Amino acid sequence: MYKSRLLGIGMHVPSNVVTNHDLAARMDTTHEWIVERTGIEERRWVLPGETGADMATAACKEAMEKAGVGPKDIDLLIYATLSPDVNFPGTGVFVQRNLGLRDIPCIDIRQQCTGFLYGLTIADQFIKTGAAKHALVIGSEIHSTGLDQTTAGRDVTVIFGDGAGAAVVGRATDDEHVILSTHLHADGTEAEILWTEYPASKHHPRMSIEAMEQRLHYPQMQGKKVFKHAVTRMPSAIMEGMVANNLKLTDIDMVIPHQANLRINQMVAQMIGLPPERMHNNIQKYGNTTAATIPICLHEAIELGKVKPGDLVCLVAFGAGLTWGSVFLRY
Ligand SMILES: CC(C)(COP(=O)(O)OP(=O)(O)OC[C@H]1O[C@@H](n2cnc3c(N)ncnc32)[C@H](O)[C@@H]1OP(=O)(O)O)[C@@H](O)C(=O)NCCC(=O)NCCS
Repeated sequence: MYKSRLLGIGMHVPSNVVTNHDLAARMDTTHEWIVERTGIEERRWVLPGETGADMATAACKEAMEKAGVGPKDIDLLIYATLSPDVNFPGTGVFVQRNLGLRDIPCIDIRQQCTGFLYGLTIADQFIKTGAAKHALVIGSEIHSTGLDQTTAGRDVTVIFGDGAGAAVVGRATDDEHVILSTHLHADGTEAEILWTEYPASKHHPRMSIEAMEQRLHYPQMQGKKVFKHAVTRMPSAIMEGMVANNLKLTDIDMVIPHQANLRINQMVAQMIGLPPERMHNNIQKYGNTTAATIPICLHEAIELGKVKPGDLVCLVAFGAGLTWGSVFLRY
């Protein structure tokens, strides 16, 4: 049995910055409300012509360069998104084509904000068994083309941004740079508290004027319920990883949490007694980029020198489904 590690991280966000003031010009909201309730100051939204696969390709190129591997070395691709470029095929094959990868398996997965951690876990298992040597794990999202930019959709629209992040996962050769544990969960009992219902194959037809008039093709969210689940599930996922690895809180150098709401993350840190400087947040700049959030946030923490080689890092996420989990690693 082998062990796996992160070999390189990359990210890409659109150049188009959308500020809270830009949103306030389109709907009944204010910069102050958004900052106070979510921490978000601006986000990136794609311009026509930019695709999820394009952003992912750029993120993968950076991750591969940092990892020191080329297209021929990659033998598995995992693409996490809730916003695929087209209904089918999965977006992963477009990234495979863009990067000129061999005819390796490409797996698209749908675990929303926990998608990147599900992807890392799958890659970890492939590496451990020897079925793969170098896996690309991608999180890439375009929310902006599917958001209700009127006052009716303001609760959801102000929180989401577009972007992509990617990691090359490969074999660990020592215990200083290694994925230590992965813990994943899901509970579908309240799946409808955060979802987009249309278009859907269960409806006849999949899309209708009536559904659009009821705005059912836009994401629907019961924000308070989602908030409560997030501040319960994320601390429990951190604790689960700590127990599995026999760690104390002081052993953790940096927590990289999903970026859904700054208040959620501050509450999580407070609940487990984590000093604020050992949690990295960047929701202020990018909003919630769902599956792309964790690699984007980790990438930034590494670039800022907040995560250094050998550091003990906890990745933790929560999202629609509901899904949640944690990954502990030595970077
Ligand atoms: C969405 C969220 C920021 C809303 O904050 P909140 O404090 O729960 O606010 P509420 O939904 O109770 O709304 C309070 C008021 O603000 C209004 N409001 C909602 N969005 C608004 C906006 N963008 N601008 C101004 N007012 C807004 C509501 O209409 C409501 O008005 P009312 O009191 O007149 O009915 C918060 O619930 C949240 O972050 N939830 C978790 C979301 C999440 O994590 N999603 C992704 C999971 S991966």
